[in-house]
Amino acid sequence: MLRLSTTITTISLLVHAVLAVQDVKAFENGHSSLQPQLRKSFSERSLVNLAKRDGVIETSPSGSQYIWKLEDTYAGRTFYDDMRFFTGDDPTDGLVHYVTRERAFSQNYTYFNEDDGTVIMESDMKTKLNPGEKRESVRIETMKEYNGGLFILDLKRAPWGCAVWPAYWTTSRFDWPYNGEIDILEGTHDNEHNQITWHTYEGCYLDVSQKYTGTLVDKPENGTVQCNDDKKIGRYGCSAMEWSQASYGLHFETQGGGILAMKWDEYTIAIWSFFRAAIPEDVTAGEPRPSTWGPPSAVLSNTRCNITQYFKKHVVVFDITFCGNYAGNNYNASQCPGTCAERLADPANLIVRAPRSVPSSLD
Ligand SMILES: *[C@@H]1O[C@H](CO)[C@@H](O)[C@H](O)[C@H]1NC(C)=O
Ligand SMILES: *[C@@H]1O[C@H](CO)[C@@H](O)[C@H](O)[C@H]1NC(C)=O
Ligand SMILES: *[C@@H]1O[C@H](CO)[C@@H](O)[C@H](O)[C@H]1NC(C)=O
Ligand SMILES: *[C@@H]1O[C@H](CO)[C@@H](O)[C@H](O)[C@H]1NC(C)=O
Repeated sequence: MLRLSTTITTISLLVHAVLAVQDVKAFENGHSSLQPQLRKSFSERSLVNLAKRDGVIETSPSGSQYIWKLEDTYAGRTFYDDMRFFTGDDPTDGLVHYVTRERAFSQNYTYFNEDDGTVIMESDMKTKLNPGEKRESVRIETMKEYNGGLFILDLKRAPWGCAVWPAYWTTSRFDWPYNGEIDILEGTHDNEHNQITWHTYEGCYLDVSQKYTGTLVDKPENGTVQCNDDKKIGRYGCSAMEWSQASYGLHFETQGGGILAMKWDEYTIAIWSFFRAAIPEDVTAGEPRPSTWGPPSAVLSNTRCNITQYFKKHVVVFDITFCGNYAGNNYNASQCPGTCAERLADPANLIVRAPRSVPSSLD
């Protein structure tokens, strides 16, 4: 949860508080099933499958071979079935009240869009509030916990515009920050660059000598950035901004969204994002090979952070919040009009449902 304001080329006068998810796929590292010495014992049918899959074998830094096997898919009509609704106030002080599953469905904040097969998650966009009052919104997390894997999100739209702060992230339900947090998609207002962040307790460092394409938010010291929060000096984890202007906000949406992939194993936690036209074929084919994707946008490696120690038992989280610790604190620097609370209070500033085109009020 960071506070940097990026170069802003447009100020949208409308908040787009809609998240449209195609699907989330969680792959597990199928290590044991593909040790080279086990190949001989495969049945004939498996050998056929193996031959077909030879193109997807990956090699770990220790030299062992593996493939990514699909473990879970969250998509379509059943997307919300395996999600827990986080209810009540926002722990990050956003001006939202997170509603129950029943309320979310009865108000159509959450639904499945038959027309294009996307899963929609929205905040309330109709109620007139007094400035400072909380708007109803949604935060969901997987019931299942993960200790690693390859997580691929296909996202058509993410909220953006003055006052809004959406996030797609993973964390443990308990003992924050002792089990770590990985922020995969995060932005505020009219940002155009997605921000990736790790939050840990003391002793985990981002090794800046690794290969990645993003720009570090904090200045490195001794070749590292510390990943624990230290509010006294204004450090909120270790973060990198993506270079692409289509990684969050207006341009992410107008070109159809894209893929965010997070690979978490004992060696690294790496994040890639691809706008829709650049999605690798292996991803589309459902046989991902991260080794062919080039340098990630950001990476935390085990060279300066013991990943198995600092990251455990994560659920996958989606939320839409407003103002709060991040979007509220950087609101004045955002060039958005008035105050964040005023902005949020008037539903005329919010887009209801999903207009496809760029609003004419952009300047
Ligand atoms: C939710 O959507 C359904 C189907 O479009 C509609 O009939 C219903 O009135 C909506 N409910 C609310 C509270 O807007
Ligand atoms: C960086 O190295 C210097 C000199 O060894 C040391 O004094 C300082 O505490 C180090 N800083 C961090 C953040 O480790
Ligand atoms: C990393 O942490 C794990 C789990 O706490 C521990 O078993 C392992 O020995 C640690 N590795 C190193 C290199 O310190
Ligand atoms: C932003 O500006 C308003 C009005 O000038 C001021 O009251 C508020 O304290 C400022 N907020 C922050 C976080 O600096």
